[in-house]
Amino acid sequence: MYNWLVFLHVAATLGFLLAHGASVSVAFALRRERNPERMRAMLDVSDSANRAMYICLLVLLLSGIVAGFMGRWWGSGWIWASLLLLIAIVVAMAILGGNMYSEVRKAAGLPFRVQGKLQPSVQPGSPEEVEALLAKVNPHLLTLIGYGGILVILWLMMFKPF
Ligand code: HEM
Repeated sequence: MYNWLVFLHVAATLGFLLAHGASVSVAFALRRERNPERMRAMLDVSDSANRAMYICLLVLLLSGIVAGFMGRWWGSGWIWASLLLLIAIVVAMAILGGNMYSEVRKAAGLPFRVQGKLQPSVQPGSPEEVEALLAKVNPHLLTLIGYGGILVILWLMMFKPF
């Protein structure tokens, strides 16, 4: 049973990476794209991938918490450090990724989200305004936080250093 739970945990992590790959590719592609129609299409693709990403994130979180109880790991520091790190990555992503993209979507005349709730589109801003907002998103920083963070979590899970 424990092995199946860890299997589910790893499977959900792979599913998360598969789903979130769309947002990662879009984040890098949007640095070069200046055609408003194509930009809007890319932002839509990224938004539609968020649902599957959140479901996998929830499954990986819950399966990890339950596996921690079954394996009696909650007395060890590595599992707490992993959980806190995952929460920190999600918060950083919400601020530096989700919130910024929401502002871009609003300025591009697309429906946008405020604290997860979908808002109807408003009068679009100028192309310069959209470009200025997009320039604030730093996909390299997101990669450093997201990919770097998940590598540290992988190290904590595999080597259980403390
Ligand atoms: C594996 C670690 C990662 C985790 C746990 C993670 C988590 C998240 C979460 C939860 C959101 C949604 C935030 C919200 O709804 O406000 C998000 C959005 C985003 N993330 Fe990540 N992420 C990770 C890696 C990355 C990487 C490596 C990139 C590289 C560019 C990235 C780019 C983005 C972008 C662009 C968004 C905004 C997507 C949109 O609004 O369409 N993420 N991330």
